[in-house]
Amino acid sequence: MGFITSEALAESGYVVLDDHPAEIDPAEWLDLEYVRWRSSGITRFAPLTSYAGDVDCNGFWNHTPPRTDKDGVWVSTQVATAPTLQQRALEPGAGIGRCRVIELQPNEYADAIYNLHQDDNNRLNDEGTGWVVRGFFNLTDDTESMLILRSDRFDPATEVRLPLRAGSRIIVDTQRFWHAVWHRGTAPRYALIASWTSGPELDAYIAAHHGDPRPTTVDLDAQFVDDAQVELHRRIEERRKAFEAQGIVMEPPTPLYS
Ligand SMILES: [Fe+2]
Repeated sequence: MGFITSEALAESGYVVLDDHPAEIDPAEWLDLEYVRWRSSGITRFAPLTSYAGDVDCNGFWNHTPPRTDKDGVWVSTQVATAPTLQQRALEPGAGIGRCRVIELQPNEYADAIYNLHQDDNNRLNDEGTGWVVRGFFNLTDDTESMLILRSDRFDPATEVRLPLRAGSRIIVDTQRFWHAVWHRGTAPRYALIASWTSGPELDAYIAAHHGDPRPTTVDLDAQFVDDAQVELHRRIEERRKAFEAQGIVMEPPTPLYS
């Protein structure tokens, strides 16, 4: 039967929409309640929705009863702080699962490559319903930073790099693409991330805002990219040895941020 997928994402698996024109008061993201999440290190998240409306970042399938990444419940204290961010998430009219603001500290390109992961967007999702994808709405003006996408985790030739201006809107099938952000700023990057259910509403939103499946990718020096690949493999091997020393056979890579 398969899933209902987005026509607009069929070509490349991602689209860049027109930048959102309206400004948002930074207090909407700075005054939210943030929590740290698992192995994501110093990265913090401020959930706007959750399984049951608590300030909780856990996957909906980790609760009882488990459910897929749909029907997120708004966290009342958070949306009271961030009504415009809630509005942004609601704009497409698509179903919303998890919705949160990410706070990402500055990092290096090699860190981003090491952090590449696929999201677990469609666990427990039923065939015949909409495939869950992610929307990224950049809040801070991180013109030198970029969302990195790879269809093959270890092949930089498959890499696409999308700049993260304030108001930039990117929708990605993040279960298909390995992805991470290289944040080159000196202050944290904030972005709104929503799990949206594919379907006619999301397609109409993408069309209305001229979703581009082949946007310009940022150029990087080839040697710089090669050096990061070497560093990526060095870190993976270092991690494998650390696990081996504890008698643990390393599992295939698991999502850092799921
Ligand atoms: Fe992710």
